[in-house]
Amino acid sequence: MATTEVRQQGGAENGQEEWYPPSEAVVQGAHIQDWDKLAREADADFVGFWEARAKELVDWYEPWTKVLDDSNKPFFKWFVGAKTNIVHNAIDRHLHTHRRNKLALIWEGENGESRTFSYHALNREVSKFASVLKALGVRKGDRVTIYMGRVPELPIAMLACAKIGAVHSVVYGGFSTEALHGRIEDSQSRVVVTCDGAFLNGKIVELKRIADEAIKRAPIVEHVVVFRRTGHEVPMEEGRDMWWHDLMALPIADPRCKTEVMDAEDPLYLLYTSGTTGRPKAIIHTHGGYQVGVATTLQYVFDVCDEDRYWCAADPGWVTGHSYIVYGPLILGATSFMYEGAPTYPYPDRWWAMVERYGINILYTAPTAIRGLMRFGEAWPNRRDLSSLRLLGSVGEPINPEAWRWYYTNIGKSRCPVMDTWWQTETGMFMITPTPSVPLKPGSGTRPFFGIEADIVDEHGKSVGVGEEGFLVLRRPWPAMLRGIYGDPERYVSQYWSKYKDAYLTGDSAKRDKDGYFWIIGRVDDVLKVSGYRLGTAEVESALVSHPAVAEAAVIGLPHEIKGQGIHAFVLLRQGFTPSAELAEELRAHVGSEMGPIAKPEEVKFVDSLPKTRSGKIMRRVLKARAQGLPEGDISTLEE
Ligand code: WT7
Repeated sequence: MATTEVRQQGGAENGQEEWYPPSEAVVQGAHIQDWDKLAREADADFVGFWEARAKELVDWYEPWTKVLDDSNKPFFKWFVGAKTNIVHNAIDRHLHTHRRNKLALIWEGENGESRTFSYHALNREVSKFASVLKALGVRKGDRVTIYMGRVPELPIAMLACAKIGAVHSVVYGGFSTEALHGRIEDSQSRVVVTCDGAFLNGKIVELKRIADEAIKRAPIVEHVVVFRRTGHEVPMEEGRDMWWHDLMALPIADPRCKTEVMDAEDPLYLLYTSGTTGRPKAIIHTHGGYQVGVATTLQYVFDVCDEDRYWCAADPGWVTGHSYIVYGPLILGATSFMYEGAPTYPYPDRWWAMVERYGINILYTAPTAIRGLMRFGEAWPNRRDLSSLRLLGSVGEPINPEAWRWYYTNIGKSRCPVMDTWWQTETGMFMITPTPSVPLKPGSGTRPFFGIEADIVDEHGKSVGVGEEGFLVLRRPWPAMLRGIYGDPERYVSQYWSKYKDAYLTGDSAKRDKDGYFWIIGRVDDVLKVSGYRLGTAEVESALVSHPAVAEAAVIGLPHEIKGQGIHAFVLLRQGFTPSAELAEELRAHVGSEMGPIAKPEEVKFVDSLPKTRSGKIMRRVLKARAQGLPEGDISTLEE
């Protein structure tokens, strides 16, 4: 397909295919000018493509003996034998360049406070906290759970772990007791880093109190470091809990801390994500290949330049934040902006005010946020000067063309291409995405990134035709790929690599159009996408069943105007309990306090039975069809 072919912009109104050609101004000087040529080269030799990027974008203490070791599939290894540390590339090396005094991070609190860190200042904080962690007994390979609000100390804590070779496990601050407990327990973290609270929508999220509850259930925890953000009273347990600022004022907080020499394949972090069944699983990412993958994709897709101010509005607690707030931008030596609170606080122009205030050039967010802001109308963004913006991005779920157009027109003023990036916690980096030189179609992530081979296949692994729906798979390894599931190598193989031979199963369904553009349809497993957050039906169901009134529960996702999907629960009560509006409300609140507010069902319905197969598996598909008044499909296995 010729990317240079000029077609009419837009076109949806008159029933034509809708196209947005690349903007000359944006493509000029962009890292990738000739998409087709590079795509062809990377296709012919993907290993060579990644090797070149590894040499160009990051430094290594010692080189590799082999770029890709695929002798023990699907346990791939990248940059075998190389020595590195991602913190060397994200911080240390910049200290000897013009970037030493450049801003690495600009932060704004929801209450309007602002803090900035140069690379030099960031290095001091990271090194001091790394020394503190060492003094607390944290060693290479140990896991540290980080459960914080969106404050600069969150990336500082992550980088401090990485610097000394510890493995961070960040738990999103919107999760609650049981979600946190499960993650501390599974990762066997002896140290937890948290905050007294977080500001959100003018209120305080009680992080410390939630952490206390979770830790009560996880006796392995020896030390809790508490960063003071809100300043409200919180209980501190003698001998276990310590204030961040107290520790950082002690001589143990030595700003001279050596960056540990790591093997390229040593683990960098664990990040829990929901799968088809059971408890969330910890995805493992490493120091070596991961840094190459995130730096390359961020540079090519968002075209981050030295003078740019880049804002990824995700939460650092999700993979988007790990790869594209923390590691990617710092490796590229960029200036990253981070905001603490809600997009609509105190008014719906908060984001646009900050774009203006800090002169943001690149804004990367999620469809749910766009839809949420869109409902307040154009007047809010129009009051602000958004002329600094050059590129926009979207991630987390398919973006509906209506939201795409609103974003493109009212935020990007029809000048800024929208990079719709498809990827996953497991992939670590963008997999299907345009670059600024690619013509766009609203709702499509266009084509696979350089060196990536994506395909859409049927039940038997055969590629489906143009316009046909099938399972999205990835046929080649990539450097930022997950290295497994912590503590469960079999599950890694069975979940991702056993349905098809030699192909990674994404769990998504998709279609491809005549131009080779990919259109993601959605998850085909029991994974929900609520406001872009990934949740498993099994997790929400087990939160429901942990309530004394509930005998059985089934959860499905139904379309929701802003959230994309909303959670609907069907509950069978234990004997002695009667359905009532109060009980439904109590169950919603229970899920909120066990899992987190994002997991709260929209609605709890009481039922007398649940549709099940003869082997006792709940048929959520049938519940979903019934709830939407659609045909129930094949119900030959239904027992009910
Ligand atoms: C799932 C992965 C990757 C960062 C955030 C989500 C869906 C993600 C897109 C997109 C359509 C998307 C997929 C995928 N998804 N980005 N641009 N278009 N769908 O990471 O929580 O691991 O979720 O999010 O369904 O499988 P995650």
